[in-house]
Amino acid sequence: MKLIFERSRPGRRAGSLPRYDLPKAEVPEELRRRTPPRLPELSEPELVRHFTALADRNFGVDTGFYPLGSCTMKHNPRVNERVVALPGFRDLHPYQEEEASQGALELMWRLQEILAEICGLDAVSLQPAAGSQGELTGLMLMRAYFADRGEAEQRRVVITADTAHGTNPASVAMAGFELQKVETDERGNLDLDDLRAKVDERTAGLMLTNPSTLGLFDEHIEEVAAIFHDAGALLYYDGANLNAVCGISRPGDMGFDIVHINLHKTFSQPHGGGGPGGGPIAVRDVLEPFLPVPAVVREGDAFRLDFDRPQTIGKVRGFGGPFGVFVRSYAYIRAYGPGLREMSEAAVLNANYLLARLKEDYELPFDRLCMHEFVLSARNLKREHGISALDVAKRLMDHGFHPPTIYFPLIVPEALMIEPTETEPKETLDAFVDAMRAIAAEAASDPQAIKDAPHRRPVRRLDEVKAAKRAIVKYGFDEHPDLGREPSAGEAIEAQKGA
Ligand SMILES: Cc1ncc(COP(=O)(O)O)c(C=O)c1O
Repeated sequence: MKLIFERSRPGRRAGSLPRYDLPKAEVPEELRRRTPPRLPELSEPELVRHFTALADRNFGVDTGFYPLGSCTMKHNPRVNERVVALPGFRDLHPYQEEEASQGALELMWRLQEILAEICGLDAVSLQPAAGSQGELTGLMLMRAYFADRGEAEQRRVVITADTAHGTNPASVAMAGFELQKVETDERGNLDLDDLRAKVDERTAGLMLTNPSTLGLFDEHIEEVAAIFHDAGALLYYDGANLNAVCGISRPGDMGFDIVHINLHKTFSQPHGGGGPGGGPIAVRDVLEPFLPVPAVVREGDAFRLDFDRPQTIGKVRGFGGPFGVFVRSYAYIRAYGPGLREMSEAAVLNANYLLARLKEDYELPFDRLCMHEFVLSARNLKREHGISALDVAKRLMDHGFHPPTIYFPLIVPEALMIEPTETEPKETLDAFVDAMRAIAAEAASDPQAIKDAPHRRPVRRLDEVKAAKRAIVKYGFDEHPDLGREPSAGEAIEAQKGA
């Protein structure tokens, strides 16, 4: 496929601006451009085709089944987009005075109240823009809490599970705490003996996701909470897996003090590739004074932003947070209403259905009922036929499915982490099972076909590390000066290097 610069022809335009009738601005000579910017020049149909072709090469939840474990890639209802595009929301300026933005403030306040109820906690800040930022904010709250008690120097250690999402240890380090890992036992729970040996007066808290990244609900969660509270430490709940438990069990009731919620996953947003996201945090009342400012508060029938919080950790994001994300999530939650638990029940049912149908062909490291996702291992295929989790993932693309998350959590070799979500019908789940079984059978009959996969996608196997670490996002004009000329096939390939 040609790059947009290679399609460019001098003088072509996709639109035209009206002639202006304003006086010419006085731009000092030394600040004026000497040459026009080197922008691609295309007609509108060429432009539309270019971006449509790019979109066609992509894969998303609107293209097909996307069981990417830990990412909750559910359908994004279109009504959310209608609501967020209402002029009152869409055209709102962040500096709009409070009297003229009462509807938006009310929506934020109501969302805060709903999330506090879902989490079983007392107060919410909507500010963080992602789960990982919610984590950092939550840990900063922990620090502020212990500083207020004169224990900041003493409480230096935060404990995470060996199944933790990578953002957990990263957030611990960024917040200036020391990291300690606790092991998982043979049933997939936190190893209580290991935990007891590690929790002491230096412990600031635990960071845990429950259900864990193995898709398992910890069978001793109340005991875990007691171990930390007895030591005067706090409990942080990574709520990225909240899709499994909404309306069924609440982190606050389990004993957690701080929770982040991934709005973009649990409550539907078109996310991926870095955004947009929302990572609100909910906290127990003792932590409320430290929450970021401004808080959205209600006074009678009016709503306002409250900056007057002397113990606040400050702002963690511009303005009130990612407002469009709030509107979509609010619409999603309200569409379920009091029946929100059906969302989680269907997510858990779908995951268990897949697990039951796949556990004959793939290894199941923890043979228990799962929550909203589960982790298989391709270890049997690797041992018997040399087929890895990566090979399975690539071959699935030929069957029209997005691969599951692979090689995570780290404690499961050749991990395939599958999260179907609640928005998939049985036929899709069955088709996915058929594909996974066909791949397991093919591993025995024709392993090379799997190793060479994908066969039917626009690109084959890429050097993904290089693509991520050495992304070249600037067109190499100097290497390709003659943009007006049709490039030869060889040049087109070369051009990719400069793009
Ligand atoms: C368990 C878990 N924790 C934290 C995060 C981080 O959330 P975000 O990607 O919004 O920063 C994720 C993201 O997938 C996750 O799965």
